[in-house]
Amino acid sequence: MRRLRATLFLAGTGEAPALVAVTASEPGEGVSTLVTGLAGVLAPGSRVAVVEADLRDPVLARRLGLDETAGLGEVLEGRADLAEALTTWGDGVTVLPAGTATRDPGDLLATARVGEVLDRLRATHDVVLVDTPPLGSSVDAALLARRCDGAVVLCRAGATAREEVAATVSELTAVGARVIGGVLTMVPARRRRRRSAARGATGSVRTAVAAPEEEPVGLPDEEAAPAGAHRA
Ligand SMILES: Nc1ncnc2c1ncn2[C@@H]1O[C@H](COP(=O)(O)OP(=O)(O)O)[C@@H](O)[C@H]1O
Ligand SMILES: [Mg+2]
Repeated sequence: MRRLRATLFLAGTGEAPALVAVTASEPGEGVSTLVTGLAGVLAPGSRVAVVEADLRDPVLARRLGLDETAGLGEVLEGRADLAEALTTWGDGVTVLPAGTATRDPGDLLATARVGEVLDRLRATHDVVLVDTPPLGSSVDAALLARRCDGAVVLCRAGATAREEVAATVSELTAVGARVIGGVLTMVPARRRRRRSAARGATGSVRTAVAAPEEEPVGLPDEEAAPAGAHRA
């Protein structure tokens, strides 16, 4: 996770991308888990915000034990102000939970209001992490990623097909989003140990990260993990 933090901060020009969309190809690859984990790691030193833009499968309110009030759905539909929908979690992380949308999420996320919400959060935070649905199920993540400084693509070790990741990356780049990194999640323990030993590292490893120049599409093939892939 700390390596991922370094990757985010060193990506591209060396300037920290403030607004980062996190996505995957299929549900269950660990997007929401990574977003909250990363927010927790970043929070002590930075002003961090999490936007739960996965209006189709909201989990944060329940997982983080937040009060179920308004969220992004209500804000986008004009039923709540941004300020009243924001809540705080952990070490001062600002969270905008998904809330409840009554309209189609794809329609809501296509409106300019999304950009206004993200820009307002960017103005008051060092990092804004956007939890998005997988691109295999909807175009929501592409709509969001093009409004962000960069997108991080997750793939689940041994589960996400190389072609799926390639399709996800091309869908993102086609709309003008900048893919700044790939993260290999749920790496099996046996492989984790071998990788750690090879690098002389110790401790448990849950996730491997590739920097942008390391071809994220190469990630799902575990046996041929990019030489520079590292632990999060
Ligand atoms: N790195 C990980 N290692 C082990 N289990 C994980 C990891 N990331 C997520 N999970 C588990 O996988 C399930 C799906 O994760 P989630 O973050 O909700 O995925 P997504 O948001 O991509 O649908 C959850 O039960 C979560 O606890
Ligand atoms: Mg999720």
